[in-house]
Parts: sequence; C-alpha cells; structure tokens
Amino acid sequence: MFNYCYASIVIISIFVYISHAINIMFELTEEHKMIRQAARDFAQKELKPGVIERDNKQQFPEEQVKILGELGFLGMMVDPKYNGSGLDTISYVLVMEELSKIDASASVIVSVNNSLVCYGLQEFGTEQQKETYLKPLASGKKLGAFCLSEPEAGSDATFQQTKAEDKGDYYLLNGTKNWITNGNSASTYIVIAQTNPEDGHHGINALIVEKGMEGFSVGPKEDKLGIRGSDTHSLQFNDVKVPKENRIGKDGFGFKFAMKTLEGGRIGIAAQALGIASGAYELALAYSKERKTFGKPISDHQAIQFKLADMATEIEAARLLVHKAAWLKDQGLPYTKLAAMAKLFASDVAMKTTVEAIQIHGGYGYVKEYHVERLMRDAKITQIYEGTSEIQRIVIAREILK
Ligand code: CAA
Repeated sequence: MFNYCYASIVIISIFVYISHAINIMFELTEEHKMIRQAARDFAQKELKPGVIERDNKQQFPEEQVKILGELGFLGMMVDPKYNGSGLDTISYVLVMEELSKIDASASVIVSVNNSLVCYGLQEFGTEQQKETYLKPLASGKKLGAFCLSEPEAGSDATFQQTKAEDKGDYYLLNGTKNWITNGNSASTYIVIAQTNPEDGHHGINALIVEKGMEGFSVGPKEDKLGIRGSDTHSLQFNDVKVPKENRIGKDGFGFKFAMKTLEGGRIGIAAQALGIASGAYELALAYSKERKTFGKPISDHQAIQFKLADMATEIEAARLLVHKAAWLKDQGLPYTKLAAMAKLFASDVAMKTTVEAIQIHGGYGYVKEYHVERLMRDAKITQIYEGTSEIQRIVIAREILK
C-alpha cells in the first residue's frame, strides 16, 4: 500500500515537472507574446525604413538605439533597481529574433550591451560599479563594449597580449584590441588584459575603461561584409591608468569572467542567427506566392516547396535549441553545452537559409532592394563572432566527454 502511494506520488511529481517544463518550453506566456510584438512593431516601424541605406553607408543606427533604450531593450535582464527591465532570457531571445529579422546590425548592439556588458557587471561587479556603470548602460543612456579579441588572440583567447601592469592603486594598461563591436559608440569598455603572465590565464583581469581616459584611442572603423550598420573598431591603450576599483572580481578572475559572460552571449547570437534565418524565410515564402513562372506561382512548384519545407523545419529546430538554452539559464541550470549547440546550429541554419532565400528570389535576390542578400552577408558573422563554429564544437565536445 505504502509503496503504491509512494510510486503514485513520484509519478504525479514527474508528470507535473514535465508538464511545467513543456509549458515553459512550448507555450509563450501572454507577457512574452507582448514583448515579442513590441519588438516586431519597433523593427517594422523604426528599423526597416532605413536599413538598406544604413547598410550601404555603414551608418550606425543612432536614433534607433535611443528608442531601444527607451523601450528597455538594452538592459533587458538587469534588475530594475539598476534601471533594467527585469525580464528573463526567453524575453531577450524573442526580442533578438524579431530585431534580427530586419536589422542584424541593430541586434548585435543589443546583444553585446545586454549579454556581454550588463550581464557581466550585474553578476560580478561591485555595488559601486553597478551604480556608476551598470545603471546608465541598462537604461540605454550609454553603450558598452566587450574587449577580448586581439590581433593575435581570437579563438585562442588565453593568449592575451594586452598588459595591465599592477601599479599599486591603479593598472597601467597597454595594448591593442580588435574587432570591437560598439567600438566607437560605446562609453564603457570591459577590457580583458594580462597582469601576471607567469600565472597564464589565472593572471588575466577584466577592467572597466571609460572613453576619455588619457591614452585610450579608437582606431578606424572596419569596412565589413555584413552587419555594416554596427561600428566595429580596433582600440589602442597607451599607458592608460585604470583605477584598481575598476577591476571586476578578484585578481586573476578576468579569463573566467570572459568565459562565463560569453556563454550567455552565445545565446544572444544564436537568437540573432535564428532571426536572420526566419527573416529570410518569411521574405522567400511571401515572394514565392507572388512570383509566377510557367503560368503559376513558384510556390506551386515542388522544387520551391521542398526548399521552403527544409527552411521551416530547420528554423523550428534552431528555435527549440535557442529557447532551451535560454530556459536553462533562467532556471539557473548549466547551459554551457546548449548555448554552444544553439549558436552552432542556428548560425549554420542562418547561412543555409539565406542562401536558399536568394535562390528562391532568383535575380531579384541578388539586388539590395529585396533584403535577402544583406541577410546572407549578415548571417556569415554569426558563424564567427562570440566563438567560431569550430570553437563551439570544442565546447560541446568537452561537455559531452566530461
Ligand atoms: N565558464 C567558466 N570557466 C570556464 C569556462 C566557462 N564556460 N570555459 C573555460 N573556463 C575556464 C576553465 O575552467 C579554465 O580554468 P581553470 O584552469 O581554473 O580550470 C580556464 O577557463 C581556461 O580554460 P581552457 O583550459 O578550456 O582554455 P582553452 O585555452 O582550452 O580555451 C576556449 C577555451 C573555449 C577555446 C576559449 O578560449 C574560447 O572560448 N575561445 C573563443 C573566444 C571567443 O568566443 N571570442 C569571442 C570574442 S567576443 C565577441 O565576438 C563579441 C562581439 O563583439 C560580438
């Protein structure tokens, strides 16, 4: 009798747990739907009209970033007491997907500010750092940048050549950072640098550097293949004095800080890739119903139907991975493996889908007016930044072989 009752309780608990999980995984709450709709409306109204021109001119979406701040999209997961929106990671990936359907240049600005800067400060910063730096970043009054990559340290991130020499009450910062998103538009920079080379990656620190500090200069803007509206620059540090209180975490925490921060960043970029893919798919689907060949819409041809079916299936699979990674993070469960899987898979789907979207558009897909060629150029970076696809495979393999 006892065993029977016990078994029943266990079965019911498992059922409740699973249904709870399924509910979170597959059914968005009304709040989530409203946030997604707000992002969709913003993207249609504010991002779409000038997106081709900004891409042509490599123009930073300054006005749009201001509105993103007002909407609370630049500090989405930050506690309201630090001017954030206090939302979950699911809300964040929904917003990232909607923005990226239209303008991946704008969405990378959102991703870096949320995942790589605000998250790191909220999670590991001191109270004073949160007051001084997190508050204006979360409200969108200022933008942040995350500075890890160097001319000779991309994938091999422990090989930091930027030096932060310990001078007592300050660090003397010297070196160069490369490929920095928000490189010129940011005011607050989290810079990863080596303090004690003899300790290898345990000698690395993360420092908060402000624009305007003596010896800090921004190099020319990179002329990129895609995400051309985002400003990517190299940065130079020549004897920059960074106060000790600007170090994040204890001495030598910098590399772990970068790795932990990038884990969440990879969910954001996976959502960006998902958005690029679904944006291209939606355009291709609509076009296939309008364009006629051999006397009927091309969507009536099986050759096109099969392409659309593959695109829709792969996008759905990518969305499930992205949402699961976000959900794990929200539950406080480990998400290293799922974040890497989501980014690896979604970025490949973005590349494949955008190429097929151009194919469906034929010659029109090859010209700027139809948007899909830009989405293809934007898709490529999702296989490279915040850890290349090869790095994601390393992370996944290490996790499954633990
Ligand atoms: N969380 C916490 N700690 C972690 C970690 C994680 N996810 N991953 C690694 N670490 C720790 C390890 O435990 C280890 O610490 P201990 O020695 O104390 O145990 C330390 O970090 C070094 O780890 P590894 O020995 O695994 O280091 P590795 O040299 O083999 O490299 C790597 C690991 C995963 C390949 C890493 O170098 C990496 O992620 N490279 C890619 C860097 C990257 O993503 N760059 C993106 C730039 S930012 C960007 O693109 C932003 C933008 O502008 C959009």
